[in-house]
Amino acid sequence: MNDEHRLIPSDGLPIAQLSSALSDTLQEYAAKCDAAIGVTVPDFNCDSGVVVPTTNYVNGKCDRPNRLNRECDPNSRFQVISNTADAYVVAHCRKQGRGAGLYGDIAVIQHNKKNGATCFYQALGTLNGNVKAPSKGSAVWPWYSPASTAAIGCVRCHDNGPLVRSPYLTQLTGPNALPGAGDVSFNRDQPYYFVGADFASWKAYKVEVAGNLCIGCHRMGTSNLFNFDDGAALDLGIRATATSEIAKNPHSAASPIWMTPGQITYSQANADAAASIRACALRRNESPLPNSSTCRITQYTGVAAPNVPGRFTAVWEPGTQAEIQVYGWAYADYREKYDQLWGQGWRLHTLQPYVVNGVVRYNAVWRQSTEGEIQVYGWSYESFRAKYDELWPQGWRLRLLQPYVVNDQVFYTAVWRPSTAGEIQVYGWSYESFRAKYDELWPQGWRLKILEPYVVGGVVRYTAVWKPSSAGEIQVYGWNYANYRAKYDDLWDQGWRLKILRAY
Ligand code: HEC
Ligand code: HEC
Repeated sequence: MNDEHRLIPSDGLPIAQLSSALSDTLQEYAAKCDAAIGVTVPDFNCDSGVVVPTTNYVNGKCDRPNRLNRECDPNSRFQVISNTADAYVVAHCRKQGRGAGLYGDIAVIQHNKKNGATCFYQALGTLNGNVKAPSKGSAVWPWYSPASTAAIGCVRCHDNGPLVRSPYLTQLTGPNALPGAGDVSFNRDQPYYFVGADFASWKAYKVEVAGNLCIGCHRMGTSNLFNFDDGAALDLGIRATATSEIAKNPHSAASPIWMTPGQITYSQANADAAASIRACALRRNESPLPNSSTCRITQYTGVAAPNVPGRFTAVWEPGTQAEIQVYGWAYADYREKYDQLWGQGWRLHTLQPYVVNGVVRYNAVWRQSTEGEIQVYGWSYESFRAKYDELWPQGWRLRLLQPYVVNDQVFYTAVWRPSTAGEIQVYGWSYESFRAKYDELWPQGWRLKILEPYVVGGVVRYTAVWKPSSAGEIQVYGWNYANYRAKYDDLWDQGWRLKILRAY
């Protein structure tokens, strides 16, 4: 990294993002999960779940063994604790030979269908099936801590989306039917991301080979847990199309092959299709990731925004440049991406932190450039202003500037680039004043370079910087993510590129 790539740390002020480096207690994690997902994990009793059938169970083999441990495991019970239009909570209690009311492996997945937020809870041992809510903490029931749960690496198998739909659970019907069972549009393009500091580094990727049958209905996933040969693309897809499976009766109408739906016996073509997905997935640790029609690997977690409460303000300008975008990323992930892209000649084009439930998240857009830049994160207005005045005579101009608010205090994150152009700034104006200034400056040949709405005391305030220019622009104010995203896609095709994007 050259020395023009200067990162200036906070001047001792509380940067909320630092908390993202820490572990959560079980109760803290449960609180974040409930806030992001909108339904809670209550007390529940494993014995209230439906027994997962082990039909034609002879000599350790049955029609639909579980695919986690590759065994039939009678008297295991599954339950759908809640399933609304927005969210679900499912619990699985694996018996593993334990006595009445006891289980060997109890696991819960809590997921929001709209924003993709997902949480994992786990306990292992000889467990009382009368389970207490994680929100009550690990003193009342032996849930693993979030750090211990994360260490198991759920995403290494749960990489197609939150749920793994194997025939073991998709055979269930009625109120405890597995969400997504038999659904050919499930795990396809739905959002998926991980709540909580301990899970923040997990990533899932989709693996694509043009024309491959296995990506016709759902994605084929893999993850950034490179030490494991697990998950849909590397392992489950191979097993789902194999001539036989461990602990499973020979393929037949009573014990059909896992993939594809409706197929009962082995298909060489399906096995070949699964094998070429695996061959591509094995390249998941390459940098940059494979990106051709014969093998493409794309991160899909964290791309769809977890901005439940977020509103977006955006400005587009004409252009055809390539750009890379991330929405709602944690600071650690954003920084990793920044450093990776810097070396490849990408510079920040827009960046904005915003705060959801006290945690700072980042939306960022990069474009190709090799200019130097200076950045500061989370400074007070006075410190930021002093830096500004110091850099101005040295020929640095603001490229990005965004205030964000924690506990009604405004902090500034800013990026400067070498330039000697003029600029006009306003800080913390109301929408009406900002709009009047905008309309005044437009005919004089000033165009918005930076625009930041933020909320203090329930009122939206605008900080804006103009530069001399006479280019056209299209703006939207305060849209929700879905509408903003639709507009983005629409304008992209028409040759408009994002100039400014703010979430608050
Ligand atoms: C080694 C692979 C693997 C890992 C790691 C893994 N799972 Fe799973 N999980 C599976 C498979 C496969 C299924 C499908 C049920 C079956 O056939 O056993 C499953 C099913 C589940 C289910 C039932 C709902 C569903 O998705 O079908 C829950 C709940 C669950 N896992 C929770 C977890 C949690 C929590 C973790 C991390 C602590 C975890 N799993 C880690 C493979 C894995
Ligand atoms: C016609 C649509 C369709 C096609 C094509 C298809 N699948 Fe599936 N797949 C499903 C459905 C539906 C499920 C859920 C299981 C069920 O309900 O039986 C599933 C589940 C899976 C799972 C479990 C992970 C998850 O998303 O729940 C794997 C792994 C999988 N399929 C692999 C494959 C492979 C490998 C191929 C290519 C040979 C393939 N699929 C082709 C529809 C399809």
